[in-house]
Amino acid sequence: MVLQRLALFLIYAFFWAFAGFIGDVDSYQRPPPRKNVHVHPLADADPASPQQVHISLVGQDKMRIKWITDGSSPATVDYGTSPGVYGFSATGSTGKYDYLTYDSGEIHDVVIGPLEPNTVYYYRCGPNPGPEFTFKTPPPAFPTKFVVIGDLGQTGWTNSTLQHISQSNYDVLILPGDLSYADFYQPWWDSFGRLVEPLASQRPWMVTQGNHEVEKIPVIHSEPFTAYNARWHMPFEESGSESNLYYSFDVAGVHVIMLGSYTDFDAESAQYKWLQADLGKIDRGKTPWIVAVVHAPWYNSNSAHQGESEADDMKKSMETLLYQARVDVVFAGHVHAYERFTRVHNDTADNCGPVYITIGDGGNREGLASKYEDPQPRISVFREASFGHGQFHVVNQTHALWTWHRNQDDVSVAADSIWLNSLSSDPACKI
Ligand SMILES: *[C@@H]1O[C@H](CO)[C@@H](O)[C@H](O)[C@H]1NC(C)=O
Ligand SMILES: *[C@@H]1O[C@H](CO)[C@@H](O)[C@H](O)[C@H]1NC(C)=O
Ligand SMILES: *[C@@H]1O[C@H](CO)[C@@H](O)[C@H](O)[C@H]1NC(C)=O
Ligand SMILES: [Fe+2]
Repeated sequence: MVLQRLALFLIYAFFWAFAGFIGDVDSYQRPPPRKNVHVHPLADADPASPQQVHISLVGQDKMRIKWITDGSSPATVDYGTSPGVYGFSATGSTGKYDYLTYDSGEIHDVVIGPLEPNTVYYYRCGPNPGPEFTFKTPPPAFPTKFVVIGDLGQTGWTNSTLQHISQSNYDVLILPGDLSYADFYQPWWDSFGRLVEPLASQRPWMVTQGNHEVEKIPVIHSEPFTAYNARWHMPFEESGSESNLYYSFDVAGVHVIMLGSYTDFDAESAQYKWLQADLGKIDRGKTPWIVAVVHAPWYNSNSAHQGESEADDMKKSMETLLYQARVDVVFAGHVHAYERFTRVHNDTADNCGPVYITIGDGGNREGLASKYEDPQPRISVFREASFGHGQFHVVNQTHALWTWHRNQDDVSVAADSIWLNSLSSDPACKI
């Protein structure tokens, strides 16, 4: 043990002594992956006690509350604007799913509202008495702040990322796919639900699917997205979509389009037609900002995940649609690292194209993707394989501040930061 430490110390001492000569290695020491953290239910919990509570936006002024119980319990939410006083009540539905030998708990789904914007609500899930939860609705106008984090998983790094996010006072969380890394073992979906509950019960979490959500096994379980669709119901009905795998929503003056990388995206597909229609409905006067979200990045200079159809063919199919609509930013995950591109279209810098950002470094158990193509393409502005999260602070109709926060020794450090101007305010990009 002592010898090991001594050896480590010598290696570090050697490294630091020469770091100055080697040049840019003085930057950041990438830490190794951390172990899974699994969150178990309380042993003495009542079968009706709510677990895995999370909320998501539904239309302009409603919120969906989802939670799971081990035993049977009514799908009722009582809520109000003062602690312990619930002047309103709403009832929804209860479902469950089977996966191989796993039987899910009861999954409750209740939409509440109309709600006031920028207001703190107190709520209770299921029967009385029960624990009180609280959330805040997003503001009706700028400024508004999003947290963006992909490929979250449930490790010590995930926990560290969640701690940093909890201090950021955001309005809405966007997750570009790969949530639990349950990877067919369903109890880990439950564990993930418990891990994120403290945050996901307080602010809307808007997610789209990644490859880890598919969970299809030929012959044995041929239906894809069983757990994902049952547990993470997003407001697709309200956005004219026929699938939980793609939808859109508005927050303040930002229109957010959540695309599905693991469902059909070719020009004949339902998703493509829905995207065309959704882009056609946008009023830039009402939502000057447009953000799109995919899982597999269309622009990526990391060695990981090159040549995948979900990235390359989806880009071929849909990039021009987003470009012509003057989408401001496209967020992606999948690659476990951070990378920011300049405004780009068709692989060429273009002042009227979106800024592409990969933010797949939430902290899952697969660790970081630290090999990059050399030399760095000119359209790639910043790239680094470290754990972290992003914040998209839309200040007003023309300005937004994007910051990437690296988890450095468990402290959140703003490592990349850039002001973006909305394309809707750039006369050179008028459509
Ligand atoms: C997450 O981190 C916090 C603070 O360091 C700690 O109290 C908590 O036990 C951790 N949670 C898990 C599930 O490890
Ligand atoms: C993209 O650029 C290539 C050559 O650089 C060109 O052949 C192609 O037509 C362009 N595609 C679009 C959609 O602009
Ligand atoms: C928008 O915010 C930016 C950055 O704070 C500021 O410089 C600009 O004047 C603001 N524009 C309006 C119309 O308020
Ligand atoms: Fe992925």
